[in-house]
Amino acid sequence: MKKFKYKLLSNAFNKKDIDIGTKIIRSKQLTISFITRKFEKYFAKKIGAKYAIMTNSGSSANLMALSALTNPLSKKIFKPGSEIIIPAVCWSTSLWPILQNNLKPVFVDVELDSFNIDLDKLKKKINKKTKAIVLVHVLGLSTNMKKLMKIVKKNKLDLIEDTCESLGATYDKKKLGTYGRFGTYSFYYSHQITSGEGGMIVCNNRNDYNILKSLRSHGWSRDTIFHKYYKKKYSKIDHNFLFIGPGYNLRPTEIQAGIAFNQFKRLEKLINLRKVNRSIIINKLKNHPEWNNQFEFVKIDKLINPSWFGLPFMISNKYIKKKKIFLDFLSKNGIENRPIISGNFLNQPASKLYNFKYNRNDFRNANEIEKRGFFIGLHTNKIKTYEVNRLVKYLLNIGKFL
Ligand SMILES: Cc1ncc(COP(=O)(O)O)c(C=O)c1O
Repeated sequence: MKKFKYKLLSNAFNKKDIDIGTKIIRSKQLTISFITRKFEKYFAKKIGAKYAIMTNSGSSANLMALSALTNPLSKKIFKPGSEIIIPAVCWSTSLWPILQNNLKPVFVDVELDSFNIDLDKLKKKINKKTKAIVLVHVLGLSTNMKKLMKIVKKNKLDLIEDTCESLGATYDKKKLGTYGRFGTYSFYYSHQITSGEGGMIVCNNRNDYNILKSLRSHGWSRDTIFHKYYKKKYSKIDHNFLFIGPGYNLRPTEIQAGIAFNQFKRLEKLINLRKVNRSIIINKLKNHPEWNNQFEFVKIDKLINPSWFGLPFMISNKYIKKKKIFLDFLSKNGIENRPIISGNFLNQPASKLYNFKYNRNDFRNANEIEKRGFFIGLHTNKIKTYEVNRLVKYLLNIGKFL
């Protein structure tokens, strides 16, 4: 019998995605060109932002957002050591750009129910040095954005929304990623859409947009609003090679843009399929004769329209002792699983290596999520009956490890 496999992602690419990728390779125009630009325009319009810039990953989009805040061409430059608030349940590359730009991360605990930042605890961490919040919209959900925006406005903070796990989700009908100064997205494997690797960053300010373009391409002035001025001022230098600041090469290929563009057009369909699959799995679990509240599921604020990234579980306390054996059992039986992002990031080795200062008691929920949480995939094809039955059977096996 074929071994059962339930991966974090399956069959993400349809025939048209592959045909488009192949056609671009055949065209030999692999470096960034008009398909990327067309996709950026389309993405910005659909998401509800003025500008969008495609990158080679969501991590690169985060790096660009934080680098823009410290760039000399920015209207308001963050000084070294400025404090940036970030939830303890975050991804590594939500955090590292803060340090890479000589800024100081200040960690805040999250809510147990939604895995997203706890706004009451956040308020307590704001002081004169606080300049921005790097918000992470965890696994297709968000915090209460109305309340958060009040805090942001009252304290004149900048907001960067790491939306890498939540493309297409809305809060109060507004797309996540469009509330702040920058919103970032990832098109990595198992995200809402995937081009293998890829990402996007959106913003509404023309100056920011042009800084981002320069950051993405070596720090040169080409294709930016700054070019005209520097071209005139430095007329002896070849104007194609005028450098105006720190920069990277974070550009995607046309192949990535072509594939992601085609997938983005069916984003709503993919989101809905994931919603359907989630309901099927949870209903089947809860209606099973062996269901004994072995797991808890996230609570969804009524103003959120989620865009699920995976299916997270919190193991009930009674079953927690054998979590590792249980997760190994799932893996051995073909069910890929992983922690809720990186658990409490403060427990990671990097936290010691970089000497992050924090009070362990302030992070009870993040610790609990690390201790009790895990997630499995949520596919973009309707789940088959035999798959649900197997999944439910293996998940309910947790009772056998008591
Ligand atoms: C919250 C969050 N931010 C950033 C990233 C980085 O995205 P990428 O893998 O495209 O670099 C991830 C990746 O999964 C993520 O979960």
